[in-house]
Amino acid sequence: MNKQKEGFVDVLVGLQWGDEGKGKNIDELLSHGVYSGVARFQGGANAGHTIKQGSKTFIGHIIPSGCLQKDIELYIGNEVVVDTVSLIKEIRELENLGFEINSRLYISNRAKLVSYLHPFLDQADEHKRSKLGTKVGTTSRGIGPAYSDSRARSGLLVGDVLLPNFEEKIANLTEFHLNLLEMYRNKYGFEINLEKIKEAKEKWDNSIKEIKKLNICDLPFLIQAKLKEGKNILAEGAQAVMLDIDFGDYPNVTSSNTLPANVCLGLGVPHTVIRNVYGVIKAYTTKVGGGNFPARMEDVVLEKLFQDAGHEFGATTGRPRMCGWLDLFALRYAIELSGANKIFINKADICLSDKIKVVIGYVSKGKVLETFPLYLDQVTGVNTEEMPGWGNANFGINDKEKVSQELATYLNYIKRKLSNLNVSIVSVGTGPDREHSFNWDN
Ligand code: GDP
Ligand code: IMO
Ligand code: MG
Repeated sequence: MNKQKEGFVDVLVGLQWGDEGKGKNIDELLSHGVYSGVARFQGGANAGHTIKQGSKTFIGHIIPSGCLQKDIELYIGNEVVVDTVSLIKEIRELENLGFEINSRLYISNRAKLVSYLHPFLDQADEHKRSKLGTKVGTTSRGIGPAYSDSRARSGLLVGDVLLPNFEEKIANLTEFHLNLLEMYRNKYGFEINLEKIKEAKEKWDNSIKEIKKLNICDLPFLIQAKLKEGKNILAEGAQAVMLDIDFGDYPNVTSSNTLPANVCLGLGVPHTVIRNVYGVIKAYTTKVGGGNFPARMEDVVLEKLFQDAGHEFGATTGRPRMCGWLDLFALRYAIELSGANKIFINKADICLSDKIKVVIGYVSKGKVLETFPLYLDQVTGVNTEEMPGWGNANFGINDKEKVSQELATYLNYIKRKLSNLNVSIVSVGTGPDREHSFNWDN
């Protein structure tokens, strides 16, 4: 008897500092009938993934980006910190848009719960850091504190909501959190707003009631069974490689491992099932939050032009994103760490200057760096190359033959610069819609 061919897991991650357009590319990849499900494997509601379908636009924070495709199953893995208030809100929003979610959403019972005090602890810690001039600029979603509790073995799991002693567990954790908040108040003057805490608790309690009605399951068994049936799954990265807790510019990072290596731990699958790693970049770079950003445009007027044309305002926090040139030095580091073999380049329609620059190296105290540094604040300058820009010429183009000469030169340049890394540029985005893209390398 022929053995059934087993399925595989492909991964998609951002290769810059987030907001590369991952949501759009996930939605596009899922539309080809290759995958039966999509899984978030790390992060939490700090993500903001924009997906568009016709006139409908949806920003997902915690729900996987297959939500607008009715036949796609949605998985939330165990390395995710689950903001239940955000999750229930997103499910309701999607229902109002005509998409049923509950029957196709599966949440790992080993996923971590974000408690109602985690966002307050996040803000308290940022308050402390702002006094020391070391603010991370977090999304205030409680991500750091939720991962801290998890690693300290004092956090709550999603599976805990079904236990008879759940209330007791919350009470213990809450007592610990309130003590911490008091420390932040006494030592750093953090203002504790009891009214806001009460409001947050009410919302959280309601969301927990709703979570109990969802499919909370042993996700690794479910995913492994799907793979055995020959079904393929797409793992959806949040944040990006340059924000990885171990390989980013610590502490200006998020609190999870964003690299594809974490797919195995975040879903409970062996590395042997992983096939392609899709890496997403923008034709330029953006970053939100603290820490040095070596590729940042020096000309503030030009930066503002990119910000406005690219609508570079956070999908989660609304904060303006800093804009910089494509940073090939950081990109090579991200490709080598992630093993990305297929690249999406988004926002190739946005180029507001006559000349476009590319960062090819970092300089520290007059020396050109050979490898990516531990601390970005030690980078004192960058080496760049420049070529002609293309203005608005390429918006909405979906045919390689119609691309302006300047953009074609730019894409060929990137390809040449990455030629020894074994990557192909699969698709180039020229607008926010799924149709606004063309294939480049094939
Ligand atoms: P994600 O976090 O990586 O999913 O990205 P975000 O959703 O935070 O930000 C990407 C933004 O760029 C969204 O507003 C998208 O609609 C938009 N976008 C994606 N690709 C393109 C593109 O090729 N051109 C333009 N102009 N906008 C794009
Ligand atoms: P998506 O998935 C861009 C940044 C924050 C901050 C740092 C730590 O939409 O690309 P956290 O709240 O995680 O503790 O914040 O990480 N950050 C993001 N930046 N896109 C994101 O997600 C981000 N998620 C977190 O701005 O600098
Ligand atoms: Mg985003």
